[in-house]
Amino acid sequence: MQQPEFLNVEASFSPEGLKVEIIEGLNNANACISPKFLYDNLGSHLFTAITHLPEYYPTRTEQHIFQAYQAEIAQALGENTCLIDLGAGNCQKAESLFGALKPADYVAIDFSVQYLQDVLPKLQSNFPAIKMMGLGMDFSSHLSLPSTLPAIKRNFFYPGSSLGNFSPAQAAHLLQQIKMNSEGGGLLLGVDLMKADNVLLQAYDDPLKLTAAFNLNILRVVNGLIGSNFEVTDFRHTITINHTLQRVELYLQALRDVTVSWEGGRRDFKTGELIHTENSHKYSIKSIQELLSAAGFGHFQTWSDPNHYFALIYAQ
Ligand code: AVI
Repeated sequence: MQQPEFLNVEASFSPEGLKVEIIEGLNNANACISPKFLYDNLGSHLFTAITHLPEYYPTRTEQHIFQAYQAEIAQALGENTCLIDLGAGNCQKAESLFGALKPADYVAIDFSVQYLQDVLPKLQSNFPAIKMMGLGMDFSSHLSLPSTLPAIKRNFFYPGSSLGNFSPAQAAHLLQQIKMNSEGGGLLLGVDLMKADNVLLQAYDDPLKLTAAFNLNILRVVNGLIGSNFEVTDFRHTITINHTLQRVELYLQALRDVTVSWEGGRRDFKTGELIHTENSHKYSIKSIQELLSAAGFGHFQTWSDPNHYFALIYAQ
């Protein structure tokens, strides 16, 4: 039986480079930690738990759109294509579309090729007709596909509004790279739409405090990476809805005056001081189409839910 092929495109994260990046952020006048550090093993599980919260609407709304429009989506993407899943994780979202899309090839891309090595063999045995490949790659900095990929139409798949966690400049850069690599295919993109504040507040500051745990866990990840002594009980999760920049902003706020130290450095936090950990941009159909157009895409098909909470766009 066919076995998936695995490739690590770049061993991009030197522990030293990560340390420098974190310490630079902590030393900023407005302290910040990159959201990529939210996703250690526990953080990934906490995020999965968040997606099951009734208040966190994006995942189930996107799933509803997939299910309601799968025939139209399949027609838009065409058959026998190469489906390239950006940030594939457990590959569940792509798997739910295999029946309708019937790709010839499936390329799962994630930070961690080890994770894909656990998941892909089982998926391959369930879908033996699809040729599968796992790629370990930090596609947010550089998207480079192996030359061995078949010369067929490529459809990128970037669901979950993960694009919204990038700055507009980073998002524009990634979309340009996708366009350059799409070989006459396109991009099936899930994006979260701007909506009433109370819906966002509940989704990003949920009453069960899962998002708080997810956010605070970043301090433990940082402790592990730079040897700092953050205590999660010294901080609380807080969010702001920034209407000017159309995004939800996540912060950790010091509950008291604290000094955090690491080898070779320290940072004092005054009571109330903030560490910025994540932005989650929300779009309108117009603003996302503008971003896609600036990256070179020119033709769009869009599907949404009855509340217009979320949109799925096939851009070519
Ligand atoms: C992964 N990403 C799309 C999530 C979001 O909604 O921006 C991350 C998240 N942050 C807090 N809750 C969920």
